[in-house]
Amino acid sequence: MALLSSSISSLLLQSSSSSSPSPSFRQVCDLRFTRRSIVSGVAAAAGTVAWPGSIAAVASSSSVALAGRVMAANVGDRQAAILATRRGMQLFSKGDVRGSVVEFDKALELDPQQKPYLWQRGLSLYYLRRFEEGAKQFRDDVAVNPNDTEESIWCFLCEAQLYGPDKAHQNFLQVGPDSRPVMRKAYELFRDGGDTKEVLLAVGARDAHDFFYSHLYVGLFHEAQNNTTAAREAITTAVASPYGARSGDYMATLAKVHCGCREWQVPGALSVTV
Ligand SMILES: *[C@@H]1O[C@H](CO)[C@@H](O)[C@H](O)[C@H]1NC(C)=O
Ligand SMILES: *[C@@H]1O[C@H](CO)[C@@H](O)[C@H](O)[C@H]1NC(C)=O
Ligand SMILES: *[C@@H]1O[C@H](CO)[C@@H](O)[C@H](O)[C@H]1NC(C)=O
Repeated sequence: MALLSSSISSLLLQSSSSSSPSPSFRQVCDLRFTRRSIVSGVAAAAGTVAWPGSIAAVASSSSVALAGRVMAANVGDRQAAILATRRGMQLFSKGDVRGSVVEFDKALELDPQQKPYLWQRGLSLYYLRRFEEGAKQFRDDVAVNPNDTEESIWCFLCEAQLYGPDKAHQNFLQVGPDSRPVMRKAYELFRDGGDTKEVLLAVGARDAHDFFYSHLYVGLFHEAQNNTTAAREAITTAVASPYGARSGDYMATLAKVHCGCREWQVPGALSVTV
């Protein structure tokens, strides 16, 4: 998928100025949040942000069910939670992983209903090596958003660090099909094992976006197997690719954070605080 086309961006700008000036829509424009935010009124209204590139809508029925269990935040707190989430993402984008989690936790305190939508928090926890909390974040996310391949993969990545890849594989979260071919193949790699790596890389030859995603996830797969050499090769290739270098996609930032955390030298790697 190409990034937000300028026409979609301007549509969002229009909708944010004409009807709903909520920070969630401005967030969509500023940080290039994604199509799921656009198609999912529920996510946008709740101030949540979709995984880059995913179009799976957040299930509204789950939000309603959640509302019954968790006390709803008042409007002011919800707005403050949205801003804290936004600050967390900006800190992460500058390499301040530790600071990002402080903001994500602040968002949760202000609006506990956000919990299963804060996938960004799970990613930061991975880099802080707080794998148990990270795995819980992703498992909670899948409970409300059952077709998200990235939640499943990141849960596995956390649990592989905790229990080793074999045990993590036994508890692998099965999710429905992803609309993105490259993420379907990435999911299959983690579910079915290394033999499908070439298939993923072949899909990655389609365009710059898919090239980046295929290399990022091949690298993460190798990291889960404790194969640092192969992980480094794939993820630095992702960072150096045109999409990795210039897209502004949150996952492209993540790849730069990854290289910074592992002290892998590649142009664009971020200097990281963990
Ligand atoms: C998830 O995917 C299944 C098909 O595999 C579909 O029936 C279901 O509606 C999807 N759920 C959501 C929340 O999108
Ligand atoms: C991972 O590999 C390194 C060597 O590259 C080794 O020192 C370490 O013990 C391995 N860890 C596990 C959990 O296998
Ligand atoms: C790491 O992965 C590469 C590429 O798949 C492979 O050639 C190499 O043998 C692996 N190294 C280890 C220690 O498993």
